[in-house]
Amino acid sequence: MKIGVLTGGGDCPGLNAAVRGVVYRATRQGHSVVGFLDGWKGLLDGRTMELDRSRLQTLIGKGGTLLGSSRTNPFKTEEGAQRVLTTFREKGLDALVAIGGDDTLTAGRELHRRGGRVVGVPKTMDNDVNATDWTFGFDSASSVAVEALERLRDTADSHHRVIVLEVMGRHAGWVALATGIAGAADYTLLPEEPFQEEDLLLSVKRAVQQKGYALVVASEGAQVSPKLKAGEAAKDDFGHEILREKGVAPFLADLLEKKAGVECRSAVIGHIQRGGPPTLFDRLLATRLGAKAADLVAAGEFGMVAVLRGDQVVGVSFDEAIGAPKLVTQPWLDLLHTFDS
Ligand code: F6P
Repeated sequence: MKIGVLTGGGDCPGLNAAVRGVVYRATRQGHSVVGFLDGWKGLLDGRTMELDRSRLQTLIGKGGTLLGSSRTNPFKTEEGAQRVLTTFREKGLDALVAIGGDDTLTAGRELHRRGGRVVGVPKTMDNDVNATDWTFGFDSASSVAVEALERLRDTADSHHRVIVLEVMGRHAGWVALATGIAGAADYTLLPEEPFQEEDLLLSVKRAVQQKGYALVVASEGAQVSPKLKAGEAAKDDFGHEILREKGVAPFLADLLEKKAGVECRSAVIGHIQRGGPPTLFDRLLATRLGAKAADLVAAGEFGMVAVLRGDQVVGVSFDEAIGAPKLVTQPWLDLLHTFDS
């Protein structure tokens, strides 16, 4: 078989490891694999690259994606959909492996519905794809955020300040949750919870009283009073608000300075947490899912997504894998707030 592979949506550590998993497993089984450039854009334009096993071998440790990525939605228009189907035919593809988050997988499902043979692999540092216990990228990105918080602790402690760290996480607060728990924040704000100003103030004041400083972690999607009103922010191809202008961390720092009477600063980690080498966990998970996707293709199990369930990688249908984002659950929230100051 000739198998295409693409990586779509925001990059995250582990994408190269997943591509490597697909290529090594598929070529060992006698198939050939071609890479499409820049996510679904490559399917629209027919732009591909050869995937060389020896080049891929050491890329397991490199962040980003050698294939490039984009947030292009090829099914936004019927013309785009037809172009994708034409490329599929003209390139002589027997199957496509689409590696991405909810949006990329939703496009994969649409292609599958239109007759393209597609298998999906979930990835996102947000960890919000349904039906998989964890997505690769999350462990690496959260580890960077924990390190950032620990660095901020030195400054907060030395200057007796409150510092608010804003981390990524559009709909789901997994990254903020992990950073808050593992980095020992005094208070953490997630999109899943309504903004409790009193609780925040209480924790911050208590921390300042006890140790002279406080650290707050806030998800970019946290529901604090936004600088921009709902609907004002620009949207991407899939209709998601671009959150970078919302300014959650500066808003909170300002509020805390006024209401807690302590000097405050804010920091936004942004894309720094999306780059860099994948952790061991992400390397292994991405490799397993990539290899599983190749197995699903070889077995003719199209319309499936390779996911992690417990310690097993298994195939589930597109419908089961995508839809509503996977949000932080109540037991996790309870655990998080156990450590509020
Ligand atoms: O891929 C998801 C994500 O990391 C979100 O947490 C964040 O809001 C978004 O990407 C940022 O996207 P971009 O790189 O397009 O600015």
